[in-house]
Amino acid sequence: MQILHTVDELRAWSRGLRCKGAGMIGLVPTMGALHEGHASLIRAAEQQCRGRVAVSIFVNPTQFGPNEDFARYPRTFGADCEIAERAGANVIFAPGVEEMYPAGAATFVDVEGLSERLDGQSRPGHFRGVATVVAKLLIAAEPDLAFFGQKDAAQVAVLRKLVADLRLGTRLVVCPIVREPDGLAMSSRNVYLSAEERKQALALCRAVRCVEQMRSNGQRAAPSLVEAARKIFAEEPAVRVDYVELVNWETLLPTNTAGPGTLFAVAAWVGDTRLIDNTILK
Ligand code: PAF
Repeated sequence: MQILHTVDELRAWSRGLRCKGAGMIGLVPTMGALHEGHASLIRAAEQQCRGRVAVSIFVNPTQFGPNEDFARYPRTFGADCEIAERAGANVIFAPGVEEMYPAGAATFVDVEGLSERLDGQSRPGHFRGVATVVAKLLIAAEPDLAFFGQKDAAQVAVLRKLVADLRLGTRLVVCPIVREPDGLAMSSRNVYLSAEERKQALALCRAVRCVEQMRSNGQRAAPSLVEAARKIFAEEPAVRVDYVELVNWETLLPTNTAGPGTLFAVAAWVGDTRLIDNTILK
């Protein structure tokens, strides 16, 4: 497995494969601190792009707010390389901040509207940072496929719009949420949780499961589904709800009826840790 640090190296790798007429090129953008959820994305990439899978590892400063966890975000590069290689990565792209944001960089990508919804509402500027860095990665690597987790469902909506609006030639592949045995959605931020908080955090997946159950019992009214989920959070008063919403997955706007493909999404603070979870309703 090769480790690349510059955009020029990544572009040369990708263009080299294209010149050889090799098959599809896959990119898995990450911020490192890889876990089984990331490994599942890399395995999915390996299945479709065997021998041509790049994994980017870059803790992107522009998607963190001033009081967020940029400084303490886990950085585990050695372990990440092992996980990525085992899962089928061929290249790691690990740029420094100055490589992605050269001195004086003044160009940002703003997906207007979507970027202010769900997580964008409580994390102003977050999706601007995500859209900017992902656009840079897609322009550099020119992958046929880029792999993202459904756990970041609002991010997926923003990035789908970005790719459509900029007419980029990459197709986004969205892979299912990977959960711990007790149901907690895997996240690089789960390491922040104390033993007590780890138990409290299960309120998120309980809310998701409850809504899935109600939906499969025929309940379609958004207010009833949201109220039931809020009751579950109320049973865990140490957990502070950020949002509980039923939205159209494309527009991220609230919907009154849970139809097929509707996104039910939650975000909550457990201690100092903000966690998210969701389900796409059947
Ligand atoms: O989902 C993430 O880990 C990040 O938001 C991403 C897409 C790698 C951009 O920094």
